[in-house]
Amino acid sequence: MPLLRLPPRASARRVAAIVPLLLSLGWGTAEAQGGAADSFPAPARAVSRIVAPRWIAEDDRDAFGEAEIVMDLLRIRPGQRIADIGAGDGYYVRHLSERVGPGGVVFGQDIEPRYLGLLRARVAEAGWSNVVVVEGAAGDPRLPAGGIDVALMIHMYHEISDPFALLHRLSPAFRDGGRLAILDQDAPTDRHGTPPRLLACELRAMGYDRLRTDTMPDGAYLMSFRAPDAARRTRDAADVRARVAAARCRL
Ligand SMILES: C[S@@+](CC[C@H](N)C(=O)[O-])C[C@H]1O[C@@H](n2cnc3c(N)ncnc32)[C@H](O)[C@@H]1O
Repeated sequence: MPLLRLPPRASARRVAAIVPLLLSLGWGTAEAQGGAADSFPAPARAVSRIVAPRWIAEDDRDAFGEAEIVMDLLRIRPGQRIADIGAGDGYYVRHLSERVGPGGVVFGQDIEPRYLGLLRARVAEAGWSNVVVVEGAAGDPRLPAGGIDVALMIHMYHEISDPFALLHRLSPAFRDGGRLAILDQDAPTDRHGTPPRLLACELRAMGYDRLRTDTMPDGAYLMSFRAPDAARRTRDAADVRARVAAARCRL
């Protein structure tokens, strides 16, 4: 729908005269288009519904060594600080806790209170003392600043309703040289996947540089990114809007 309806025979001169007036009244700004000045852009694509706290049964994943393959590809090692964003009921938290050991930390993060309850119960029962459970929000991971070596998003990117806000607020959580790794299916975003080109485009817009892409034995792909340093991070919501609009990421 057009933002402004002009009379059918409005002359170019009349339009030129009226535009500065409309701009001075705020027309064409984020507020006038229905968003606040500090609002983040919605993705120009569908988002999958949140349906479950896990991708598939743990035994099936362990049968082909999913978590071990991912941790090896990402060179995850003892002492590191890893965030599992959208951890669900903790398949990766279990493997990460063992890999990083007592000198490391695993932030098991999610936004669904019921799934967080399952995760907390599992952590308590297993006695994983290096795991911190974090309740995030759809557009804010709520992770400590400068605290993360690697952040994982496993089978969840397509469910993030506010991906640009989340990526913006995630950037300061990385240590220098920190990495973000996203595992997903090459499928439409409303069918629990993300086409790899679309993913790379959205992350590039937010200042994340692609490092490598690997294919998993089950056909999923793992794409890893260098997190932006302070100079390349998005500054605020207006900067995010401008960068996302310029990137024109489409399915
Ligand atoms: C299909 S499950 C995958 C869980 C786990 N990563 C795995 O591989 O088994 C997707 C998870 O992402 C979580 N999620 C969805 N949107 C999120 C967001 N914006 N921030 C954090 N977690 C989110 C859901 O609550 C759910 O637990």
